[in-house]
Amino acid sequence: MQTTIEAPKRSTSREVDFLPLQGTDYVEFYVGNAKQAAHFYKTAFGFQSLAYAGPETGMKDKVSYVIRQHKLTFVLTTPLRSENAIADHIYKHGDGVKFLALKVEDATSAWEETTKRGGKSFMEPVTLTDDSGEVVMSGIHTYGATIHLFIERRNYNGVFMPGFRKWESTYNPPEAGLQYVDHCVGNVGWNQMNPWVKFYEDVMGFRNILTFDDKDISTEYSALMSKVMSNGNGFVKFPINEPAEGKKKSQVEEYLDFYDGEGVQHCAIATKDIVATVRDLQSRGVEFLKIPASYYETVLDRVGKIDEDLEPLQELGILIDKDEEGYLLQIFSRPIEDRPTLFFEIIQRKGAKSFGKGNFKALFEALEREQDLRGNL
Ligand code: FE2
Repeated sequence: MQTTIEAPKRSTSREVDFLPLQGTDYVEFYVGNAKQAAHFYKTAFGFQSLAYAGPETGMKDKVSYVIRQHKLTFVLTTPLRSENAIADHIYKHGDGVKFLALKVEDATSAWEETTKRGGKSFMEPVTLTDDSGEVVMSGIHTYGATIHLFIERRNYNGVFMPGFRKWESTYNPPEAGLQYVDHCVGNVGWNQMNPWVKFYEDVMGFRNILTFDDKDISTEYSALMSKVMSNGNGFVKFPINEPAEGKKKSQVEEYLDFYDGEGVQHCAIATKDIVATVRDLQSRGVEFLKIPASYYETVLDRVGKIDEDLEPLQELGILIDKDEEGYLLQIFSRPIEDRPTLFFEIIQRKGAKSFGKGNFKALFEALEREQDLRGNL
């Protein structure tokens, strides 16, 4: 067993965090139809309308809807014409995550510190201004076509960002208790996990806090390896998955095939009451992976006593795992587009800082049943 766990190291006065991150600012998706996607996220996940940009606000070639729930902000962007980079991105990858935007105190310093350590620039620092102040943003490339933006908004009090106007809608379904981004996982190609671990260490000052090898994460048929990267204060965590050899095709390979490259596999969203949130999401049409009844026959022997009744967890298919510091409850959605690519995890942490290793086998067997139905196992 090669699993290792380490607490994120506190920086000392000698060791200053050169990329202090305040958390996830927003996640931006490129989608085929942003108007309909925004409606879906409001209806199914309980997001609220926040802001809009498009031709009416001076953005001629694309449209973006900004939706929010507590500290969780999504931007849904679609191109208005065929001859541009966003249209090419959607043609190749389907709908997916383009930007993982990180909140910083100083977007210029973030860009300088990361690019001088080998980060490939996506966008030099630019200052956007309107009547509500200014936002400075910059960005660097990460795996696949995915970008990390650095967003500095300390001198801004507008609705979202210059170029956007408030989006008032007559359709406002209630929230579902989603709170913030817990972690976002990237799938990378064969032999690419360690180079990307090095990227997060060298370029962004992250640390590898957890490692799972193919013995930890394997079923009868397929395997994968994963390393969890965390920034200095632990606010931003990016696990990275790589496929491993198995008898059949792994879920990461299926993703790489259908996304046509590396990209974000799932974003985990925190809730304070997973039973209420998942019950609500299911009633709104969000589909989750099914877990066999046998899982619940032994789970409490493995994790010990928990505050929740087991019955609703089993009814909804919520998984339980523990580590030295506590336990966690988690559930995984089915892919949220027709390609078997991006999905969401809903997570409630009760002390545990880990990622559900004890659930990997049950989870991957559930994923493989679905992969088999698609003829991709
Ligand atoms: Fe996860």
